[in-house]
Amino acid sequence: MPVGGSAPLKFPYSPGLDGVVAGITRICRIDSEVSNVQYRGYDVCDLARDGCYEETAYLLIHGSLPTVSQLAAFRSRLDGLRRVPHEVYRVLGALPPHTDPMDVMRTAFSVLGSTDPDYRRPATDREANLRKAERILALAPTIAGNGFRIMQGLEPLDPLADRGSAANLLYLASESAPDPEVERFLDACMVLYAEHEFNASTFVGRIAASTLSDLYGSVTSAVCALKGPLHGGAIDGALAMILEIGSPELAEDWLLASLASGRRIMGFGHREHRHADPRASLLSSLAKSLGEERSQPQLFEIASTLERAMIQRRGLHANIDLAASFGFHLAGVPREMSLPVFASARMAGWLANAIEQLERNRIFTPTFLLTGDEWQAGRRQFHSVKPGSDCR
Ligand SMILES: CC(C)(COP(=O)(O)OP(=O)(O)OC[C@H]1O[C@@H](n2cnc3c(N)ncnc32)[C@H](O)[C@@H]1OP(=O)(O)O)[C@@H](O)C(=O)NCCC(=O)NCCS
Repeated sequence: MPVGGSAPLKFPYSPGLDGVVAGITRICRIDSEVSNVQYRGYDVCDLARDGCYEETAYLLIHGSLPTVSQLAAFRSRLDGLRRVPHEVYRVLGALPPHTDPMDVMRTAFSVLGSTDPDYRRPATDREANLRKAERILALAPTIAGNGFRIMQGLEPLDPLADRGSAANLLYLASESAPDPEVERFLDACMVLYAEHEFNASTFVGRIAASTLSDLYGSVTSAVCALKGPLHGGAIDGALAMILEIGSPELAEDWLLASLASGRRIMGFGHREHRHADPRASLLSSLAKSLGEERSQPQLFEIASTLERAMIQRRGLHANIDLAASFGFHLAGVPREMSLPVFASARMAGWLANAIEQLERNRIFTPTFLLTGDEWQAGRRQFHSVKPGSDCR
């Protein structure tokens, strides 16, 4: 390892691994030149408009779209797996009430691992991994919803039988039967959020899988990474921003003042999408319709004013989190549940990636550049006493 930059680098250094090829995948393709995202060869916007989340999850995990009977069987298996074991609720009930919802979620998934009937199966057992993947997919909405309830001091609810992930999330968020239109909206959001190449959380999940840890470890690590405000946590910052602005007339001035103060604007920018993100465009138009139906068009108007100004001033487009932030709000998803809903949707992508990683695995161990000039000054100034030696 070169110290202080004295020796030539064996490999180029790319901060944030920008442009580094870190794996091989058949799951997702982002073509930012033509603003297109595909899951296993299918346009994600077509899947969101004409498919459903469970069908998409099956596609991502199994590699092909299910037949009608495969989809029915898959849905029914998920329905049978949605109840969370009591041990998990007991642990969540012991968390301090101010615990962040994503910390609740990661705690739940790390406890869930040992309750899985395949807990002791080797990490490379594909059949066991597919069974675990179904359990994780089924449990994620229940954890997101009941984790929120427990933190509010409410009792967990039994998930709805014979209903999909979106319906269950809405039911647990509000304790009332979901409106079919809102359910379709949330289901489309979940399709759009289900997978997105080697983003930070997916990569973290693949790293955990590459050590031959288990799928629960992999998704728990991914949940931790998603929480950060530069990644999924931006959804909360974006909603806070839109609510703080309050009116479309104030949006541009707010943005200019914020940019002038060096503030990073949540819901804008993306490492891969340098032009419009097609998921963001579709979700924005779906959220716009939902806002109009609910007589709340101003949230979309604030977001679109911000986007126009941001493109003009900085050349940065909105990412999917901007539209999701106010779309979830309009759908009645409590703010604290927004990111757990995103995480529930992304479970499909995380699981598909972890399983794919194990098919052609090599442990991730990148190299690094060591800068240690200051080490010279610190040589031989130890003050500690060796354990077991005479201290006098
Ligand atoms: C998504 C994101 C982390 C991508 O990061 P990246 O590819 O590493 O890009 P960088 O952080 O290096 O930013 C490049 C430049 O654009 C600016 N920039 C990028 N996103 C910005 C934002 N949202 N607001 C203001 N400036 C932004 C940076 O300040 C930087 O400017 P500089 O070169 O003058 O220093 C970044 O755009 C961001 O922080 N966005 C806000 C958080 C967010 O919405 N995350 C969800 C992503 S889906």
